[in-house]
Amino acid sequence: MQKPIHYRKNIPFFHNKTALEFRQDPYERYDPMVLRQSMLHLTDSLWGAYPMQPVKDYIQSNCSAEHLNNILEIGCGVGRLIGDIASMYSEVSCWGIDYSYQMLKRAKEVWVDNKSIELDLSTYGFLEGLRISRRSLTNLNFGLAKCEDLPFEDDSQDLVLSSFLLDRLSDPIQGLKEMKRVLRENGKLILVSPLNFNTSKNWSHLYPDDKLRQEIEAIGLKVLDWNDDMVIKEPMDKRRNCITWNCVAMVLS
Ligand SMILES: C[S@@+](CC[C@H](N)C(=O)[O-])C[C@H]1O[C@@H](n2cnc3c(N)ncnc32)[C@H](O)[C@@H]1O
Repeated sequence: MQKPIHYRKNIPFFHNKTALEFRQDPYERYDPMVLRQSMLHLTDSLWGAYPMQPVKDYIQSNCSAEHLNNILEIGCGVGRLIGDIASMYSEVSCWGIDYSYQMLKRAKEVWVDNKSIELDLSTYGFLEGLRISRRSLTNLNFGLAKCEDLPFEDDSQDLVLSSFLLDRLSDPIQGLKEMKRVLRENGKLILVSPLNFNTSKNWSHLYPDDKLRQEIEAIGLKVLDWNDDMVIKEPMDKRRNCITWNCVAMVLS
């Protein structure tokens, strides 16, 4: 693994993120991005369910802990998914990589530093203060890097995960090539995305989904499973208003 360029609050930076890059990144704005993402830690107690449960179930049904030495999640946000996975596979070394320092700071506070965090969700209708339950996992690390330039060796990762990232990348195929580079032979890459692209270029190159699948195969990844009816409902407030994401989930090798 590459050496970090520097650290901020004990979070290794593998990309030298400039002041301009910080300013331009919507995920560096505490409100509302980090708050909304942090809400994922509380969904079980607030709404009785974790909205990403279908993603977790899909991952679990498509991989076994046997022969797993390491797991990497790219675009891990505040770490809810990789935190849950690292808790389940306590013998496996896990990394969460993200491009946002604010997201990673929250992820590390919750999953590694066992820091007490109270969220103010009063704008979502929860008028009382809410506390996130926290952990001190020793098999989980977080670092700042770009999906397009990962700090890991070629063929080094047994399982690579990514949820709700692919469509945020300006060049999703470049991101996939980098994921493929770090994946070991016969390792698995499990991706979930609503393919809600934010550029006309990506809509025209990668939609309908068959076009994305062809691009994936063209870079040498084998499609082991392709499920295009995973629905994720992201709760938004106390009245249970929610955003519906129509996702595609895939297992690649
Ligand atoms: C929509 S959020 C999804 C977070 C989490 N995976 C989830 O499913 O809840 C997208 C995340 O990807 C990160 N991200 C965006 N571009 C990235 C890039 N080029 N490399 C790594 N992470 C990136 C953002 O900082 C953000 O945390």
